[in-house]
Amino acid sequence: MQGYDDSSDSETMSAGHSLSSRASTLASEMGEPETEWRSITSSVWNHDYESGRRYHHFRSGRYLYPNDDEEQSREEAAHVLYSELLDHRSFLAPVANGPRKIINLGCGPGFWAVDVADKFPEAQVVGVDLSPIQPLWVPPNVSFLVDDIEDHEWTFGGDFDLVYMRQTLMHVRGDFDDLFARVFNWFETHDERCTLITMAPLETPLPLSDTPNQAVAPEARRLICPDMGLGRITKLCHQAVRGSWAPEELEPAAQRRALEAAGFVNVRDERFDMPMGPWPDDPRLKYIGLMKHEDLLAYVDPISLKPLQNLGLSPSEINDAVQDALEMINDASLRLAMPLAVIYAQKPTGADQAARQDPNANTP
Ligand SMILES: C[S@@+](CC[C@H](N)C(=O)[O-])C[C@H]1O[C@@H](n2cnc3c(N)ncnc32)[C@H](O)[C@@H]1O
Repeated sequence: MQGYDDSSDSETMSAGHSLSSRASTLASEMGEPETEWRSITSSVWNHDYESGRRYHHFRSGRYLYPNDDEEQSREEAAHVLYSELLDHRSFLAPVANGPRKIINLGCGPGFWAVDVADKFPEAQVVGVDLSPIQPLWVPPNVSFLVDDIEDHEWTFGGDFDLVYMRQTLMHVRGDFDDLFARVFNWFETHDERCTLITMAPLETPLPLSDTPNQAVAPEARRLICPDMGLGRITKLCHQAVRGSWAPEELEPAAQRRALEAAGFVNVRDERFDMPMGPWPDDPRLKYIGLMKHEDLLAYVDPISLKPLQNLGLSPSEINDAVQDALEMINDASLRLAMPLAVIYAQKPTGADQAARQDPNANTP
């Protein structure tokens, strides 16, 4: 078992540490004040505190949601929910012969990374996050690193068979193209779409859909207005994090275009309707709906606080916005749902390209 251990021989940990040490030494030799990111000292373990919640300290202010125990418990429950939604598949990309090197960008408390390390004992799994909140006791083939995935120079290398991100793309401040340009082989993102859906009112029977993973036919689906209740909170958080309200940026079609422009092939996108309450008749979807309802009740308040403050809303305006959202979430007559988009794509590596040019390259 291993975790954060300076003496660990984990390649990723030592790569991250040695780079930081080198930069740190250089900085002090040059008489420069050490910036936070260069430090491998205990500051990486620090946290920021505000309004009774705890936030990451490394690159302070970059990620606007809390990282405290309460939020980690919610993330643990959310992990169970996403696993259930995807029939316990950790990822959908058809990585040939199983992945050997996996990286989880924005791994949070590391539930997915630990799960996937257990499922693929032959693989080395690395989780990267701004917050040092991952467990110390983990399977031997998983390690964690505190780093910023938006840095241009990654300390964790690039030769991964699978680069995986869940609920993190929305928090990337810069251009997605930058990130897409850096990832290789299979890349997979799982993100709730910003456009929420409400189904036809309760008295209307729900026409079933022929589309896989879509519980209800298109004619029964209505978009939730982004200026009301949960729609408004979603819009404001997006605005605060990304700098503007541009939900189309996270739409699968936009991601597909950006991935293709970055050289990815075999781009696939699958949607999974996630009910936001126990309204479905199907017992599995009812269970997922119950879990998502609990998740939202625990989520809306903490995720709204900093983003809405940053947009200049007063405490009472924030409180009103949160209450409106909670009212909508608890309105059983609305039959709410949120689609999860899973997008995966493959970027040919230099070796693949060379093999294509030289048809004998793979011949034993
Ligand atoms: C909503 S949480 C999702 C956590 C995890 N992927 C999961 O699904 O349980 C988003 C995570 O992304 C991390 N994050 C956001 N921006 C990041 C960045 N620039 N570099 C590293 N991690 C980042 C946050 O610290 C947070 O833990």
